[in-house]
Amino acid sequence: MISTSIFQDYQLLDAGDKEKLESWNGIILRRPDPMALWPKLKPDIWDSAMAYYHRSNKGGGYWEYKKKLPEAWKVQFQDLTFKVSPTNFKHTGLFPEQAANWEYINKLINNQKDVKVLNLFAYTGGATMAASKAGAEEVVHVDAAKGMIEWAKENRDLSGLTDKKIRFIVDDCLKFMQREIRRGHKYEGIIMDPPSYGRGPDNELFKFEEKIGPLVDCAIELLSDKALFLIINTYTTGYSQTVIANLLRSKFKDKGHIEADEIGIPIIDTDYYLPCGFTTRWTK
Ligand SMILES: C[S@@+](CC[C@H](N)C(=O)[O-])C[C@H]1O[C@@H](n2cnc3c(N)ncnc32)[C@H](O)[C@@H]1O
Repeated sequence: MISTSIFQDYQLLDAGDKEKLESWNGIILRRPDPMALWPKLKPDIWDSAMAYYHRSNKGGGYWEYKKKLPEAWKVQFQDLTFKVSPTNFKHTGLFPEQAANWEYINKLINNQKDVKVLNLFAYTGGATMAASKAGAEEVVHVDAAKGMIEWAKENRDLSGLTDKKIRFIVDDCLKFMQREIRRGHKYEGIIMDPPSYGRGPDNELFKFEEKIGPLVDCAIELLSDKALFLIINTYTTGYSQTVIANLLRSKFKDKGHIEADEIGIPIIDTDYYLPCGFTTRWTK
């Protein structure tokens, strides 16, 4: 299991009965999580939730506030600061399990010169900020949702990266990669987080199983001769890390090293982890 060691402001307090209880800088949220199939480990602490996301029968859901909460607040991960806010679709603007990849990117870049990073399906920019903070000369951040790009810009400013070279692009990731290949651009690091199912900026349908092959092909073409990493996160049920590792192995042949594992979050003061998908990493 790949998991982050220290996240100052985030703790997974408990999970069970298809729900999780988390502390986001002291603000305690209770949200659905279909992976938590076991019974709650600490049933006595769940009343501490300050906001509770209920699924509705008609799809979607709503937050029930037990206490008045700020509309948004900050959480700190090492030297990065992010805005979190409970959204209508149960997310908070951050996937904390990804902190393991931010640490990994930080170690690989480690203030080396001439490192250009492409972050695809980049959401609010956790990996973008980690790469920029680690000294990447340029980070290109691509997401189909304009609102997510605006949120990522707030995270850039909160993390003290306003003056760094970060390009924010609203586009379909595959189309953008194909254009970058035609322009002859190259990257030393690529990270992607494709959803199981999504929509591009022109409402074009994204289905993981149809797009993962072309995404990997384009990523490999965009990696420079000095490439440091390619990281692929997947959440799609039935497509484990082994599927992606095999795909990468077939393309890279004997070049570099491949590591593939589940990614998850430890439930504090227990031996349990909440699984959050898979991460497959190629490094040179
Ligand atoms: C699972 S989230 C990524 C989470 C993020 N990497 C993180 O850890 O913070 C998926 C993102 O992909 C974007 N997206 C979905 N389909 C897309 C497409 N075809 N092209 C670009 N972005 C897309 C969504 O807007 C969303 O922000």
